[in-house]
Amino acid sequence: MRSILAGVGSYLPERIVTNDELARRLETSDSWIADRTGIRQRHIASDRETCAFMAAEASRAALRNAGAGPDDVDAIILATSTPDQAFPASALRVQAMLGVRHGFGFDLSAACTGFIYALSIADSMIRSGQIRGALVIGSELYSRIVNWQDRGTCVLFGDGAGAIFVRAGDRNDKRGVLSTHLHAQGTLGDILYVDGAVGRPDRPGHLVMNGREVFRHAVTRLAEAVEEALAANGLKRTDVDWLVPHQANRRIIEAMGRKLGLPPERVVITVDRHANTSAASVPLALDDAWRDGRIKRGDLVLLEALGGGLTWGSSLVRI
Ligand code: COA
Repeated sequence: MRSILAGVGSYLPERIVTNDELARRLETSDSWIADRTGIRQRHIASDRETCAFMAAEASRAALRNAGAGPDDVDAIILATSTPDQAFPASALRVQAMLGVRHGFGFDLSAACTGFIYALSIADSMIRSGQIRGALVIGSELYSRIVNWQDRGTCVLFGDGAGAIFVRAGDRNDKRGVLSTHLHAQGTLGDILYVDGAVGRPDRPGHLVMNGREVFRHAVTRLAEAVEEALAANGLKRTDVDWLVPHQANRRIIEAMGRKLGLPPERVVITVDRHANTSAASVPLALDDAWRDGRIKRGDLVLLEALGGGLTWGSSLVRI
């Protein structure tokens, strides 16, 4: 069995907050943020636009795009660090909102690498014959966990959701997920973390980051993950049509593009408009390039991400 990427969808909150708007209430500027990260604006969720709400909207779009319906969904795997509630899993709120009446679902916590982890699990379950169709979602509201007094972190993040629908295809099918590669190093847990949780009575938690350390690890780990994905499939850098990276920082993204020898127009960038939407960033970027017709059937797409944990991973997908 192969997992075919049958449809993609996304959702962004209505409210857009520009760097200039942030500069009115924080000691920062559009040029500081844009020069270091490429970010110019981010979407910020309203009270109505929760993790499950945005995930359900993105999933509806992905199912529509795939020509599929609720009865085709055997599993809902939702990557998030900002669920609506400790439980039920937001994946199951999505199940209810979509009218999916069978199968199962769960939330997955791997910070910004969550979507790659979720894709890997869905792909394994499809390959083993356990399921035939899965919604793989990233939905995040970092606006709820950033410290809005900390200009070093709050300017970097945004809210949103992206989803794909993957279904079982034929083993002889050339399309589909070729491989996924997951990594983690728990000893680096303190360079990017949230200092609390739903279970903590004192505080729900704020994001804390050592930006320089994260930057340093991102460049080396992601380069390794990209090489690993190519080697596992006996492919060369020149075989890759598109790089769809996690959208944290334009400088990291461009460094990865150069490593692959890809021209800038073959690297999908949304960080300027979305900022870092954590687990939602890869499917949001994929949807961006899919909807406007850049990514086409037959293209070889390399996905990669790195985030708190430290977690990182990659996946090669033939569309
Ligand atoms: N506006 C203006 N000044 C700011 C600022 C802001 N929003 N945030 C920080 N500064 C100031 C700092 O206070 C510091 O001032 P000082 O020199 O007077 O102490 C100065 O800018 C430099 O701060 P520093 O944190 O060293 O900047 P940097 O060049 O390392 O850039 C990041 C910071 C976050 C942009 C960069 O480290 C980065 O992109 N890291 C990777 C982060 C990432 O990808 N995280 C997500 C992974 S999933």
